Amino acid sequence: MMKKTLLFLGAASAVAFAGNSEALVKKHCASCHMLEQPKPEQIPTLTAPAFDAVIFHLKDAIKGHEEQVDFIVDYVQHPSASKSVCESNKVAKFGVMPSLKGKVTQKELKEIADYLLEKYPHPDFVRMIKEILKNDAMAALKSSPFLINSDNLPHMTKLLIQNWDKAKLGLTPEQKEKLLKIRKETMGGVAKIKQQLEPLEMEVADAMIDREDPKSVEKQLEQIARLKLEASKIHLKCIADTTAVLSEEQVAVLLPFWE
Ligand code: HEC
Repeated sequence: MMKKTLLFLGAASAVAFAGNSEALVKKHCASCHMLEQPKPEQIPTLTAPAFDAVIFHLKDAIKGHEEQVDFIVDYVQHPSASKSVCESNKVAKFGVMPSLKGKVTQKELKEIADYLLEKYPHPDFVRMIKEILKNDAMAALKSSPFLINSDNLPHMTKLLIQNWDKAKLGLTPEQKEKLLKIRKETMGGVAKIKQQLEPLEMEVADAMIDREDPKSVEKQLEQIARLKLEASKIHLKCIADTTAVLSEEQVAVLLPFWE
């Protein structure tokens, strides 16, 4: 008789437990983090990343369930840009999460973490985010003024902005100052070239639409080629200047595929 009662109580508390973690998430996290899967058009209006996005990045950056739980339990109490698994520019956009230390217990946080890791990201969200990333990559390629768009010649300025505050990269203030200067030179130079490229490319396209002789736009073609050559030189200089500022360890963090 005694045994049966205990078993019954055990089952009841297991049910209460599952509902409890959801209630905890609603109480402590849902005011900022969207619980449903965000629609693409909602993403720019969010005040914090949706849990789909948070857990997607987390599972990408940290392997092992225990390690993932530990990260969430720690981050909620001691959030910082340097620990974040999201891109530095995204964290800068939202502002670092305020600490919830004292508002939610260690035990509650473990329950919350288990629940979040179990539930997110929704498979549909993963499909959507991969589609967005693919489209972004294609758009970047389409508007690229560089001659070489191989993964092995990365856009350093973009890579750096995504990793700017990461403890793992560990940029010193002196390095940041130098890198900002390189960034400014690179972006300025490339922007100027892009501006000149646009009307030239239009002229060439218009000529073909109007069935004109390709010879009539040879001069424009040569100008385009010269401008893209200039842009590519700026691109390579940016890579060389940036890697000269970084240590070999930092280069390995940014460009693991270079080894
Ligand atoms: C007051 C708003 C707010 C509340 C409440 C809140 N968060 Fe956040 N959280 C944010 C913002 C903003 C970010 C994005 C910036 C950042 O990463 O620090 C974030 C980011 C995160 C991240 C990603 C960290 C990273 O790697 O960048 C995790 C994990 C997280 N929150 C978990 C939680 C959990 C779990 C709760 C509830 C217990 C919670 N948050 C409650 C605002 C909030």
